[in-house]
Amino acid sequence: MERVAVLKEYRRRGIAAELIRTAMLFAQTESPDTSIYAYAQVAAIQLYVALGFKILSKVWIEDGTFIPHQTIFWGSPVSIGVFLKHQAEKVDTTYEEYDARHPAIIPKIEEFKQRIEVEQNFQF
Ligand SMILES: CC(C)(COP(=O)(O)OP(=O)(O)OC[C@H]1O[C@@H](n2cnc3c(N)ncnc32)[C@H](O)[C@@H]1OP(=O)(O)O)[C@@H](O)C(=O)NCCC(=O)NCCS
Repeated sequence: MERVAVLKEYRRRGIAAELIRTAMLFAQTESPDTSIYAYAQVAAIQLYVALGFKILSKVWIEDGTFIPHQTIFWGSPVSIGVFLKHQAEKVDTTYEEYDARHPAIIPKIEEFKQRIEVEQNFQF
């Protein structure tokens, strides 16, 4: 499950929760042993936790957007092997670790956010 988003003017009405609940129900109906893994933005993590997702990773920084994410999971642990393969491909890192390796990253993140906010009228 990737890129869950609701238009700004429709937020805080339960739309995202309903979409995710529907995905959960669909997955469970298709296969009782199913799981959903998702890469949630840290800012949205409570939405998923409230729906029963477990947090599986430290904060990691998504390449390109620099947005902090955490890997989350819901469902049967039967497919944990698939998850572990995915997870192995992720860079599990914190802002501080990332910053230590790329000292100029924080100003770039701020610059990126400001550019997106201005160009797309998008607020993080
Ligand atoms: C995150 C996002 C998808 C939530 O959509 P939404 O339809 O407003 O969410 P809901 O109304 O279903 O919220 C359900 C619960 O999630 C939590 N939540 C939602 N937005 C939140 C926010 N901005 N800050 C803190 N908690 C939030 C609340 O607990 C909320 O319940 P409440 O309104 O009763 O307090 C939406 O804000 C969005 O599109 N953001 C930009 C894109 C993004 O960050 N996507 C997340 C990718 S993982």
